Amino acid sequence: MVLEFLNELSHDFTKLLENKQDSDFSITIGSEPDNVKVFHLHRLILRARSPFFAAIFNLTTTKTNTNKIGEFSKNADSSNNQLAIKNEDLFKNTSPAIFEVIVKFLYGGAFNVKTHSLDELFEILVTAHKFRVKSLTSYLEEYLTTKRADDLRQKFAQLTKIVYENSSLTKLQSFHNDATENAAETIFECEDFTSLSEATLVSLLRIDSLRLKEIEIWEKVIKWGIFQCQNLPADFSSWTARHFETLRVNLSCCIPLIRFFDISSEDFHQKVLPYQQIIPDQILKDLIDYHRAGYAPITPILPSRSPFMYSSTLLRKQHARFLSRAIEGSSSINGISTPCINSTSQCSYEFRLILRGSRDGFSPSIFHRFCDGKGPTITVIKIANSEKLIGGYCPFSWQSKGGYQYTTESFIFQLHEQTCKNGILSRVVDPTKAVYFWQTFGPGFGNGPDLALRENFKDPSQSFCRQKSYEEPIIPGADRRRVHFTTEEYERYDGCSPSFIARSPGRVNLIGEHIDYAGFGVLPMAISRDVLIAVSYEDTNNNNGEIVVEISNIQNTRYPDRKFVYQGKERVVDIENEEGVVEWGNYFKCGYKGALQYLQLNRPKGMRCLIDGNVPEGGGLSSSAAFTCCAVLATCFANGAQLNKIQLTEIAASCERFIGLGTGNMDQTASICSLLDHALYIEFLPTLTPTPIKLPTINPPLAFVIANSLTKADKVATAPTNYNLRVVETKIAAYYLGRQLFDKDCEILRNVVDLYDSDNHKKGVTIEKLNALSHEIDRLFEKKQEGYRLSELSILLELDVSEIKRRFIGQYTIRAETFHLYKRAKHVIEESLRVLKFYEACVRGCDADDHSKSEELFDTLSKLMNQSHASCRDLYDCSCKELDQLVEICLGNGAKGSRLTGAGWGGCTVSLVPLNMVNSFIHNVREKYYRPLFPNLSKAELSNVIFATTPGSGAAVIIDL
Ligand code: GLA
Repeated sequence: MVLEFLNELSHDFTKLLENKQDSDFSITIGSEPDNVKVFHLHRLILRARSPFFAAIFNLTTTKTNTNKIGEFSKNADSSNNQLAIKNEDLFKNTSPAIFEVIVKFLYGGAFNVKTHSLDELFEILVTAHKFRVKSLTSYLEEYLTTKRADDLRQKFAQLTKIVYENSSLTKLQSFHNDATENAAETIFECEDFTSLSEATLVSLLRIDSLRLKEIEIWEKVIKWGIFQCQNLPADFSSWTARHFETLRVNLSCCIPLIRFFDISSEDFHQKVLPYQQIIPDQILKDLIDYHRAGYAPITPILPSRSPFMYSSTLLRKQHARFLSRAIEGSSSINGISTPCINSTSQCSYEFRLILRGSRDGFSPSIFHRFCDGKGPTITVIKIANSEKLIGGYCPFSWQSKGGYQYTTESFIFQLHEQTCKNGILSRVVDPTKAVYFWQTFGPGFGNGPDLALRENFKDPSQSFCRQKSYEEPIIPGADRRRVHFTTEEYERYDGCSPSFIARSPGRVNLIGEHIDYAGFGVLPMAISRDVLIAVSYEDTNNNNGEIVVEISNIQNTRYPDRKFVYQGKERVVDIENEEGVVEWGNYFKCGYKGALQYLQLNRPKGMRCLIDGNVPEGGGLSSSAAFTCCAVLATCFANGAQLNKIQLTEIAASCERFIGLGTGNMDQTASICSLLDHALYIEFLPTLTPTPIKLPTINPPLAFVIANSLTKADKVATAPTNYNLRVVETKIAAYYLGRQLFDKDCEILRNVVDLYDSDNHKKGVTIEKLNALSHEIDRLFEKKQEGYRLSELSILLELDVSEIKRRFIGQYTIRAETFHLYKRAKHVIEESLRVLKFYEACVRGCDADDHSKSEELFDTLSKLMNQSHASCRDLYDCSCKELDQLVEICLGNGAKGSRLTGAGWGGCTVSLVPLNMVNSFIHNVREKYYRPLFPNLSKAELSNVIFATTPGSGAAVIIDL
């Protein structure tokens, strides 16, 4: 038997420190005159206990042998045969008291954490680390990060400094990272917040998911800033401009990261405005306008912080990242996705909770109800009375029958509930038994089963692991036998990264309303509001081999999930249109069907799509075309089709007919082909030709402001009396004019204009031809400018009523007493003239410095817009009283030109306003239109209904996610 008298040994060795005589080595520690101490030590002990000192002694010995002690020789005190070391930086910068603790530890192997404050412990740790006293370093790292975690967070500035200066303190480092990522808000509460470095503060302010009110963040930032400026008077009222300037400079990197628009008016006035001198001018102006009148800001603003990353109670962010990487490591990830499209999180996957045991239940039937057909999922199980999480990833949808399924991509795992460190990732080794589908089973992985929950998931006899088909057991002992466990909680997510995101913007039409389907050029531009579709795709995503498409919307309650099965090359998918009902999924189906009819693939991909959009619905800004264009783009891209923008536009343009609309192609062309900073002049015939044009630079610059009348125009639901009826009326007019003027059959009014070609006119649409036709229209309809009944039409056109229906109405449902030929034709031709004039004025542009020309140009453009509105109102009957009223208000409050934009019958107006008047214009329109008519609009809503816009870019696919 070995007896150990370690305490005694420790005590006696420590005693040696008091014995100066036997020491053969001295070292001077500290630098400040009143805090320097010479330690008399014993080489033998230090060499045995410390690699650091051993290395020094080796060095000095070698050098002594050659009689050159090098740098140490200068300080060697050779009297007493001792080696003395002084003045080295490390020794100089160490406090004697702390060094004493280290030396005592080296001699006696003893250390008592209780006798030291946290600050001292920090110092001891760093010093031990520097002198490479490994056992003490790791003990202290472990002790601080586990037993003193809360205290450590309170000293975050100090912690950060230590971590940055000592990168090999890995435990401390990962504690620091974890705190930053998962509990950044607690750092704002730390005692030494004001000592944080600027870099640390900036990186905290960048975090979009901080769970703090913005005003709290602001107050902390101010406090930090004041601390950085020495000598700011404590009495705020005595601050001078110079004091504010010092603060401004110190906070210049932080201010742009504050989400000012998320601060309430009251807090803004009380807590932000007193510091207005440190806020950049334009931001301040925007803020004042916003709080005074709800104006939308002109400067770009950061998104609101959204602490809701995913709704898990089990998974932490680092777990999500671990699992994301594990999924990416699977051979091919084509599966599903419900990513958070707008997320700025670094985690490449967003997990959406679809089932939680404590909320939804612990039985197989619940499991299958929530999870079947949902695409790939991750199951996470919390084992009762343990800190372990276990679970598995299934790369396709669960089903309640089918037995074992083949895959090489599944895995099971075990993680600690706090950390991923030492986590187990166990990939499938027998792919034929990878996952198990059965109705009495919940999740089943492997033939062991390597992980399974059965019948009642809470019952330990029904929850077990035995490793067989996966690389490693995820519960100790499961490699030898079946290990049972009790499930405390379980959650299930679907969520993998999208393969790409398709984007298509809305548009505002500057001029040229209801003339695209008659074949004439129009002049819209894309706006920054858009539709986004995050897509993941796979060869099949259903076990029966069916090709399935699933679509979800971010606004899930308003637009519930939809799912459909591909029906073959011709049929593609059935689109049911119930008159008067807008089924949101149909817009997607249209794009999907159009794309696949064009591509004629034998086996298109299955797709899962998550959709988000911010183009106001029914606002005349082309939300529906943005959606169908985006669906076309998403479908083509998922299926590897390489198409140019014109081809994509042509497909998209053919799509809306599937929901029974006879629209022209303006919206799709603008959404797909627009170019940033340019309006788009679009000619449709003889071929689709979009020409980007720069808007003229004039002084003051011009701005387009969109204002929503908040009267909803639903093109689909009202098509029989509005949009489609107009299409039919212009077609009938074209037929009549063609027969009367040229004795030819014309389908659209553009064909009539083209017949003038034979008369020695220049090719294409010209001002002369349009003028000529306009006169003819007046002449031919001189006697009857009001509408024709069907029977009257039959006489006028010399066609049977049935023939009229067949030729002009065809598949559309139309409800009309009378058909207005004169008014519609007159509008189309005159509006086309205005487009040509508008286009020419833009191309002509002018020298921005030439004031009189600028004004003239402004007038020209404005006048054309005003005439356009009058024509839409009086001839085309596509305005409404709200739009007319809004246009009036706009014109009376700073707009020079104003008109409805888009199909009309509600929706938006677009106004031409001198840039320097935009703010007052918006303010006045709010006061005069929105406040009396819509008194209940919130500030946020108000800033959404009227906003200035500049020309945005066209559709695109984002692949670098
Ligand atoms: C809708 C249609 C367009 C166009 C406008 C009116 O937006 O989709 O094709 O006809 O109305 O100009």
